[in-house]
Amino acid sequence: MVDLPQSDDHPNSAPAAPVAGSAIIPPKPAARAARVSLWRYLRLFRADLLSAQPAKLYRAWMAEFRTPFFRSFLVNQPDLVRTVLKDRPEVFPKSNRIGEGLRPLLGNSVFLTNGEVWKRQRRIIDPAFEGGRLRQIYPAIHAAAEAAVTRLSDQVHEIPDAPIEIEAETSHAAADVIFRTLFSIPIEHHMAQEVFHRFRAYQQAQPILNLAAFVPLPRWVPRFHRPATRRNAARIRGLIRDLTQQRMEAIASGHAPDDLATKIMTTQDPETGELFTTDEMVDQVAIFFLAGHETSASALAWALYLVALAPEWQEKIAKEAAGLSLDQFAEAGRLRISRDVFREALRLYPPVPMMVREASCPQQFRGRTLPQGAQVVLSPWHLHRHERLWENPDGFDPGRWQTENGKTCQREAYIPFSAGPRVCTGAGFAMIEGPLILSMILQRFRVEPVAGQEPIPVAHLTVRSQNGIWLRLIPR
Ligand code: HEM
Repeated sequence: MVDLPQSDDHPNSAPAAPVAGSAIIPPKPAARAARVSLWRYLRLFRADLLSAQPAKLYRAWMAEFRTPFFRSFLVNQPDLVRTVLKDRPEVFPKSNRIGEGLRPLLGNSVFLTNGEVWKRQRRIIDPAFEGGRLRQIYPAIHAAAEAAVTRLSDQVHEIPDAPIEIEAETSHAAADVIFRTLFSIPIEHHMAQEVFHRFRAYQQAQPILNLAAFVPLPRWVPRFHRPATRRNAARIRGLIRDLTQQRMEAIASGHAPDDLATKIMTTQDPETGELFTTDEMVDQVAIFFLAGHETSASALAWALYLVALAPEWQEKIAKEAAGLSLDQFAEAGRLRISRDVFREALRLYPPVPMMVREASCPQQFRGRTLPQGAQVVLSPWHLHRHERLWENPDGFDPGRWQTENGKTCQREAYIPFSAGPRVCTGAGFAMIEGPLILSMILQRFRVEPVAGQEPIPVAHLTVRSQNGIWLRLIPR
């Protein structure tokens, strides 16, 4: 038997105050028994990262996973999370293991690199996502949102009352946003279509990409990717390379559209004056597409499901949107209710449920020594539902963000986009895109859950529902 994990309590902790407000408790995966064998853990893990964990992680400040091969520490204590992500990020680089499933697709992208290479990549990428740029690409985001509403209207018109699997729709919408903002092409473009469908196949073939990161295999165990998966990755990268090369030529001839790709490909590293090479750009485009559409799609689908359970929030969002001209960037900034709902969806179903770092030298945490090479797991999933930090931790309550507890927790225990220097590049982008699409859908439709189709959250690449998220859309 292996202890997985041994958890730690905070000496001075008291449970958070009892629930006030919403009584809506949306689906949460069942936790596993406290002690299991390593073999059983691996099998549970393979099925789903979330339900493989014991319930005490929702109360523990730190937990150790000790096996014959590795030691991992899940850290839930806010000041330690801050140490890892913000105060001493250079001591806790990204674990190389995270890339094992992703490298054929993502190459040397900013998501996987560390040190000087990563710094250089962020220096070139970050300016493309600054506030002013978001204003410039906003019309493309709005156009994709309108296209999504039109697609839904067509479906509802064709077969009224038929349940709709909304994750497929939000994936489509988020992929459209990425293609329009990056390359100024809509998802209907034949290359965008092929990339989109191949990405879905890649994910299905690699359902638990993070397995190797959380349950690291000894380094001598060879890693295999199925030939079909490798071929698929190569084809996706080939398509992205074609798009990138076409763009290089358009830039050279002075005819390039003013979108994210052009901005990134023409930004010089302020320290060296260099531009990205085509190879480097292919790596970055692959991660923008993957990190930028899977995550937003997942959050949006959950947000729609949550408001289906809470019709009063749908009405509030629809009313808020009715008073605004959403084709204007400045007006989208006034979607406060929609943003609170989207933020609550990111709390309950953080698309990236866990992140892994590696201790580059021995560390003392809570009186324990983390040896060099220990894996440090940060879990938005557990932190966002921590029973000693949040009031009503499992309840859907967008009103919480206006309360003292909500505000404190937002600062100290809320990391859907990570934090510190490696914070998600697309956080600002996602917080415009998500609430906008949510509001535009709810302005046009009421959404209802479908009886017998309660979604079961599972963590694959992002937190998804095991059998999709089914909703009925009723035109307003
Ligand atoms: C709701 C939507 C999103 C969520 C919840 C999200 C979440 C995250 C998280 C948690 C990380 C850190 C992962 C880690 O450290 O292991 C991350 C990194 C990243 N995200 Fe996002 N993301 C979202 C949308 C986007 C969008 C729209 C883009 C780009 C268009 C994007 C691009 C990236 C990139 C490039 C990184 C790597 C940053 C680095 O390591 O320096 N993300 N994201």
